[in-house]
Amino acid sequence: MLYGVFSDVHANLEALEVVLDFFRASRTEGHICCGDVVGYGPDPEECLAKVRRLKNISIVCGNHDLAAVGRLDVEWFNPYARAATLWTRAALGGESRRFLEGLTARLETREFTVVHGTPRRPADEYLLSVAQFKVNMSKVSVWPLFMGHSHMPLCFHCSAEGRIEPIFIDDRQCVTGEVAAFGTVPVAFNPGAVGQPRDHDKRASCALWDSEARSFRVFRLAYDVAVTQAKIRSHGLPEYLALRLAYGQ
Ligand SMILES: [Fe+2]
Repeated sequence: MLYGVFSDVHANLEALEVVLDFFRASRTEGHICCGDVVGYGPDPEECLAKVRRLKNISIVCGNHDLAAVGRLDVEWFNPYARAATLWTRAALGGESRRFLEGLTARLETREFTVVHGTPRRPADEYLLSVAQFKVNMSKVSVWPLFMGHSHMPLCFHCSAEGRIEPIFIDDRQCVTGEVAAFGTVPVAFNPGAVGQPRDHDKRASCALWDSEARSFRVFRLAYDVAVTQAKIRSHGLPEYLALRLAYGQ
C-alpha cells in the first residue's frame, strides 16, 4: 500500500495544500501523520479540517496539539510557541478541540508504529541521535517507526550486524533495500516538517512509504511562503514565526 507520510503541519495551510495535492497526484491509499497539526501557524481550523477528511489516516498528537487543548502546560515552551499556543486555543472550534482531545500520543498498527517524538516519550523527546534510537528500540514491537517533532527528514536504521546509521534524507532520496528490508529490522523514518522545516530548506517536506517495496522517499515541495507570512502578521502572531519560514529554520 502507498502511504503519504507527513508531520508538523503547524497550521500552515499553504504548505499543507501542496502536500495534499501531491499525495492525491501520487494516488496514496493511506496516510500517516506524526502530529503537530497546529501551533505556530495562522490556520489551525482549516488545517485540521483537511487532515480530518483524509482517508485511512493513522494520526497521533504532538506537543503543540496537546498544548492547544490544555493537555500540556505551555510553561516550558519558548515565548513564540507560547504566544502562538494561546492564540490557537482561542481560534479552535469545538469540533477541532474534540478531535485533538481524542488523539493518542502513540499508535501501533499491524504494519507500523507512529509517535510524535520518541516511543518512550512520545510527546516531547527529539529523536536525533544514535544513543536515543538505541534506548528507544526496546519500546517498539512493530517496525518501521514513523516520527516527527525534530522537523528534520531523516532515518535511523539498525543493520543485521547491529550497526546503527542515521541518514539525513534529501529531496527525492529513497531509503530502501537493505535499510528497510524486513518489518522486523529496526528502522525509524521522519518525513520532515510540512509547515516549518528547520533544515535550511524552506520547502514543505513530506514522504511516500510503499509498504510492499519497503521504500521511503522524501519530497520537498515549494509553496507561497509570503502568503503564510502575511497571515501570521495579520493575526498579530510573533514576527519571528513569519521570518523563520523564509529561511527553513
Ligand atoms: Fe513540531
